Amino acid sequence: MSLLLADYLQQHSQQYQLPAGLTDVILSISQACLNINHEVRLGALDNILGSAHTGNIQGEEQKKLDVLANQLMIDALSANPAVAGLASEEEDTFVSVHEEGNYLVLFDPLDGSSNIDVNISIGTIFSVLPKPKGTLTTEHFLQNGHQQLASGYVLYGPQTILVLTLKHGIALFTLNQDNQFQLTQQNPAIAETTQEFAINMSNQRHWEAPMQQYIAELLAGKTGVRGKDYNMRWVASMVAEVHRILMRGGIFSYPKDNRDPAKPGKLRLMYEANPMSLLIEQAGGAATNAHEDILSIQPEGLHQRVAVILGSKEEVFYATAKHANN
Ligand code: AHG
Ligand code: MN
Ligand code: MN
Repeated sequence: MSLLLADYLQQHSQQYQLPAGLTDVILSISQACLNINHEVRLGALDNILGSAHTGNIQGEEQKKLDVLANQLMIDALSANPAVAGLASEEEDTFVSVHEEGNYLVLFDPLDGSSNIDVNISIGTIFSVLPKPKGTLTTEHFLQNGHQQLASGYVLYGPQTILVLTLKHGIALFTLNQDNQFQLTQQNPAIAETTQEFAINMSNQRHWEAPMQQYIAELLAGKTGVRGKDYNMRWVASMVAEVHRILMRGGIFSYPKDNRDPAKPGKLRLMYEANPMSLLIEQAGGAATNAHEDILSIQPEGLHQRVAVILGSKEEVFYATAKHANN
């Protein structure tokens, strides 16, 4: 399997007759991620660690690398005439790019910001939507997750790995010694059952009752109604958690909590939940907001937050069913 990304994209687009330009958009994203990867690997040597001393529209402190990764994504995508517009977690509003472009690209340029300065896995998440006709408006971006043409992430971990779906399965590429993404795995299948969960337990008291009950059942292990012991992981980088789930199953949740009624969850629908949910579904898993499939949610705003439960089907359905009367 020594197929490089560009060759894979060419083969894949012929096989499935993908719309023109889409694979070029993926190449532009991958180029930006190579540039981000370069900076991530240098770290302190290129003075990219620490705070940028600015805030984003969502009131979050920006790290230097959040700002830099955002700019590298914008630069690479702006150079591609197929891209009509961009939306980023780090930008207040959408960015118009090329009037004649056919695609919209939405991204979280740097996921897992709290891990940058401590050398723990981080990533970039992206989603590609078709551009509706007419002068670009915010409404054009507010398409549900089923409309995505492609999504994926790059994990800057012990290896740099690109995980991509063009809605005909999933492909994994590992960055090789020549700095090229090389196909290393296709179509991982997420096990339907699992004994591993990921949630930030420090927020437990803020969750709604059904989530409290669900996690209490997992913690009860063999002695509880689930009848098996569970293990727990929390990296605090969604990219790393989703990658673990693709590789060995599991359930991940960032649930709704009662700290801020304006924020039904922490994660962003357009930049995090939708692209990851498409990957998870393509790998045979499931993703809900505790009530409905993430991909079916009609977005109301670019920076909309959403509760997320995703991963192994049996576990996601069990946790979601607990919220049925909530
Ligand atoms: P970002 O760095 O893009 O703001 O996203 C971080 C997200 C996600 O990657 C992770 O699952 C979660 O926030 C971690 O949140 P806590 O620090 O609250 O655990
Ligand atoms: Mn993120
Ligand atoms: Mn981010």
